[in-house]
Amino acid sequence: MTDTQPETETTVTITVDGQEFAARPGELLIDACERAGTYIPRFCYHSRMKPVGMCRMCLVEVDTGRGMALQPSCMIPVGEGMAVDTQSELTKKAQDGVLEFLLINHPLDCPVCDKGGECPLQDQTMSYGPGESRFVEEKRHYEKPIPISDTVYLDRERCILCDRCTRFAKDVAGDPLIHFQDRGNQTQVNTFPDEPFSSYFSGNTVQICPVGALTAKPYRFKARPWDLEEVESTSVSDAVGSRITVQSSRNQVLRYMGVDSDPVNWGWLSDKERFSFEAFNNEDRVTEPLARTGDELLPTSWGTALSAVGELLKTTDPSRIGFIGGSRLTNESQYAFVKLAKGVLGTDNVDAQLGDGLPAEVILGLPRATIDQACTPGGTVILLGPDPKETLGALFLRLRHAAVEDGATIIELTPHRSGLGQYAKHHLYPLAGSTAALAAALVNGTDDEVAGVSAATISAARTALQDGGPVTVIVGRASVAEGAAAIADAAVALSALPNVRFLSALHRSNVHGALDMGMSPGLLPGRTTLSDGAAASAWTAAPTSPGKSTAEMLTAAANGSLDVLVLLGADPAADFPDTGLAAKALESATVIAVDLFENTSSAYADVVLPAAAPHEAEGSFTNLEGRISKVSQKVTPPGIARADWMIAAELALHAGGDLGLESIDDIWTDIASVSAVHASIDMAVLSNNVRDGIVVDGTMAMPTASGVTAAANDAYSYRLVVSRQMYDAGTILAKSPSSANLHTGTTLRLHPLDFEKLGVAAGETVSLSSATGSIDVPVEASTDVPRGAAVVPANQGDVNVGQLIAAGDVATNVRVERQGA
Ligand code: SF4
Ligand code: SF4
Ligand code: FES
Repeated sequence: MTDTQPETETTVTITVDGQEFAARPGELLIDACERAGTYIPRFCYHSRMKPVGMCRMCLVEVDTGRGMALQPSCMIPVGEGMAVDTQSELTKKAQDGVLEFLLINHPLDCPVCDKGGECPLQDQTMSYGPGESRFVEEKRHYEKPIPISDTVYLDRERCILCDRCTRFAKDVAGDPLIHFQDRGNQTQVNTFPDEPFSSYFSGNTVQICPVGALTAKPYRFKARPWDLEEVESTSVSDAVGSRITVQSSRNQVLRYMGVDSDPVNWGWLSDKERFSFEAFNNEDRVTEPLARTGDELLPTSWGTALSAVGELLKTTDPSRIGFIGGSRLTNESQYAFVKLAKGVLGTDNVDAQLGDGLPAEVILGLPRATIDQACTPGGTVILLGPDPKETLGALFLRLRHAAVEDGATIIELTPHRSGLGQYAKHHLYPLAGSTAALAAALVNGTDDEVAGVSAATISAARTALQDGGPVTVIVGRASVAEGAAAIADAAVALSALPNVRFLSALHRSNVHGALDMGMSPGLLPGRTTLSDGAAASAWTAAPTSPGKSTAEMLTAAANGSLDVLVLLGADPAADFPDTGLAAKALESATVIAVDLFENTSSAYADVVLPAAAPHEAEGSFTNLEGRISKVSQKVTPPGIARADWMIAAELALHAGGDLGLESIDDIWTDIASVSAVHASIDMAVLSNNVRDGIVVDGTMAMPTASGVTAAANDAYSYRLVVSRQMYDAGTILAKSPSSANLHTGTTLRLHPLDFEKLGVAAGETVSLSSATGSIDVPVEASTDVPRGAAVVPANQGDVNVGQLIAAGDVATNVRVERQGA
């Protein structure tokens, strides 16, 4: 239980050191004492995990009605009339004794230990421990430290066997890869030989280890806690928007730590979120404007670059200008670029999604759920989207907890088994392109097999939906080879369920802020359209008819009917599903990139404008719930890079307009004037709600079904599924030394019966071809994949899977052939 939980009406009266206190029923004594202002020392207890009473550091004298006795306060729920004495002689003797025992084998590493200065063992030894040791015997020794994964080191001598890391790995992440081994004095924590701690969430164990036994490679020996300054902020690594503290020393970010936000991440982070700061420190950052001279991008001044781009924007027909991307940007920068494009230039060709998302009306028009609503105890979650373990790590941990601890029922409606599969009660794996038909059958019932799923399986899942409990659909694109319309239609079909809400699984950073700010064709700020938005009358150049989506802009650029593409932190050459179309479009247009790094698309850029990274500029972020929270500046941008909104404001001036935006406060005043849903928000409000942010309410008109159908699959074809993985060859990961080599490469997965039919050996290379291209990949059999599906990961950097996909297709049929066949 946490302080953020609402007070219940009934309370339990206990006495803490002689003072009466109204505790919450069921609350653990250690928590009640802390809320009463008395901190009881502890090592193994963690408020987000079940107590185990391992360390005995929290022993206090308690009278539960049978007289005073020493008891571990982390194991006792409060009871009416309970009295605790945390200051008694016996309590102090117990604390002193526990520390003396813990230090028997503890090394004298403090001067060289990364935990020194923020170590509970150090602190509690000073506060509660013996003045000196009575032990003169040789201490236990182990090889130190040993790497147990790519990012975590283990020093077993320092371990106090508190069971926090092991409990986290098993109970919270579901990756039981670190354990206690041996017995008695030889007990140690370790991984099994040949089985590294390869969990997407391993960094959390470093954060919760109460000593310096687990350390993170990116932080080892980088700083002492007293050298660090910190600010609370938001992780922009994915769309969950986890709370973090950003810690820096000498103007360099050195560490992100998870912060316990009750409605969002509970203090946990995926390793991708935790270590992403490394990329922003990378010396490959673009630190000054670059302009193309022949084959090279060469440094130039801001004045020259802005004049050239401003002139280009001023002199080009607005309908022939397009803005792609923007999910990297803060809400304020997104607003500034939308106002530049739609309010000053007059083009509606603006799309923050890269052809792998969903129509804005699906995200903004369907009733929305918060993470807490999705995780309601006893509720039902339909996963109609990507694997949250791979794309939205902190959300996965919340959903897993809901299923394992709180009795939530999970129904997978995905093209293959997801990371939630082992916790799901119902598994519906349609062939890509047929998802909407299966969703309709789930709602309406059927006597027939639908999309390769038996009537009995559908019927069993329907039963779970009919008990009237809350239903949340996690909606997104599980495969970038399945068209958005197919998933949108499935979402519309599921919207007929009673009590249903939708939680977006669009994964890309601040994509939900982008939609709220109008970074989508046909939208204006505040979840409004070109016809009903207040900006339509406030902005003189506001477009009146919907512009082009990313796919339409790339198609137009490729066929010569769009001249200028402005890439806002976007890399369509790597991230747009149809990479062939993206390359052709970028080759044909004049390309302006506003970015942190040169990337695949920069090869086509004519000008690159250097932007500030997160935590190099103030701003805010909107997560997948619509929750707005602060992104705080901690360090200054490298070189002469600038905040994106400043670049937009300068470009407007050079293009002959004026955004009228000179500060973040100006921007919020401006947003409030055109967006009713943001009317009560500004930086002061966000600062006052820094931990949990503010959820913005308001929906647009409900989407309607398009009725698309996929072309039939012949007996020799497979339905292509291209799924995103936690680690890929994307720029931010590639620029983070600890994560750069964690992507696994491309392997094709087929159902064992399809695999047998092919007559190949596991690992053998096969040819995978579609109407648009062909790649050679190793193949393996997997029962996680339905018959008839061919599943490959996206953007692994070794082969270009995107050349198999044609933009706009509802589904992609592929052939799998033995090489030389
Ligand atoms: Fe010192 Fe704490 Fe490190 Fe142990 S874990 S060596 S007590 S700083
Ligand atoms: Fe506890 Fe740290 Fe040892 Fe794990 S490594 S059991 S978290 S002291
Ligand atoms: Fe209670 Fe460890 S904190 S036994």
